[in-house]
Amino acid sequence: MGEQGDQGGDSRTGRARAVTIAHADAAGVARAAAAIREGRLVAMPTETVYGVAADATNAEAVARIYAAKGRPRFNPLIAHVPDLAAALELADLPPAAQALAQAFWPGPLTLVAPRRSGCTVASLATAGLDSIAVRAPAHPVAQALLQACGRPLAAPSANRSGHVSPTRAAHAEADLGAHLALTLDGGPCAVGLESTIVGFFGAAPVLLRPGGLARAAIEALVGPLAAPESGSIQAPGQLASHYAPRARLRLDAIAPEEGETYLAFGPGGPAGADNLSARGDLVEAAARLFDLLRKIDAREVAAIAVAPIPAEGLGEAIRDRLARAAAPR
Ligand code: TXA
Ligand code: MG
Repeated sequence: MGEQGDQGGDSRTGRARAVTIAHADAAGVARAAAAIREGRLVAMPTETVYGVAADATNAEAVARIYAAKGRPRFNPLIAHVPDLAAALELADLPPAAQALAQAFWPGPLTLVAPRRSGCTVASLATAGLDSIAVRAPAHPVAQALLQACGRPLAAPSANRSGHVSPTRAAHAEADLGAHLALTLDGGPCAVGLESTIVGFFGAAPVLLRPGGLARAAIEALVGPLAAPESGSIQAPGQLASHYAPRARLRLDAIAPEEGETYLAFGPGGPAGADNLSARGDLVEAAARLFDLLRKIDAREVAAIAVAPIPAEGLGEAIRDRLARAAAPR
């Protein structure tokens, strides 16, 4: 993998590499698209989190993603596309899935459905499964990059496997910089949580991962979402310990105990404590979650006590991320 040429860095030798955060103007997007076409990796902003993007049709490029992330091979990637028409070239989306795409794309929703025969995405990207995850991201920079590349982009969150997801260009650069041709800076992510993933395998759609689009919005269109079959490979990315800061986490903490740093939510948190949303707004809390976990973790605290988060709206996804971060490891 000597593809970091123009920066003089090399992930094998551990030699220092210049930070390459590029403005996401036309020139930056053109550079990124050229790198993608050469099979290199680019960190791109999306409205949910930053993704590390590669040409999804190039298996070697996809392999570089797994290598850079240190990600287990069985964990399949999302193919990012500009719109529903492009998704239909890759996946056999049933009518309910298409209705969701029409309502919520571009946006923080990923659809999993059978791979279409003739689908050009490398099977490594789908981890050999006969299903594929597709998403049309809303961020204008992601859209510009997709248009410039003219092919689907495989893009997991741009963090080392098991680390907190990146919501700023600097996070992606810090975790994966040595592996990237460049990072396109599109500012902080507006949603701040990964996309909601809905699977279409049989009769009822399945909520594979709560995320940036609330369950209620989806159920209003397609009816109740089922839970994934336990122990199935329907959601192989749902490892118990995943979004993990270094510090231990204690959830639903009314107040910090001795030795804990408090992460508050809502009005009336302890003076000086970081607060996910002082006004108790779950959308604001989602957008700030990974940022604050990273910021507190950087202080090398031993333990973080997190205030109770209501399990409504985006609170479901926030609680899911926190439970994973708190899982024994
Ligand atoms: O918001 C997002 O979705 C971000 C941005 C960059 O788009 N991407 C993201 O990708 O979160 P990643 O790789 O971190 O998470 C993708 C999830 C994983 O849990 C994976 O297992 C699941 O999607 N997935 C992908 N393909 C699948 C499939 N065929 N069947 C079931 N789950 C699948
Ligand atoms: Mg991830």
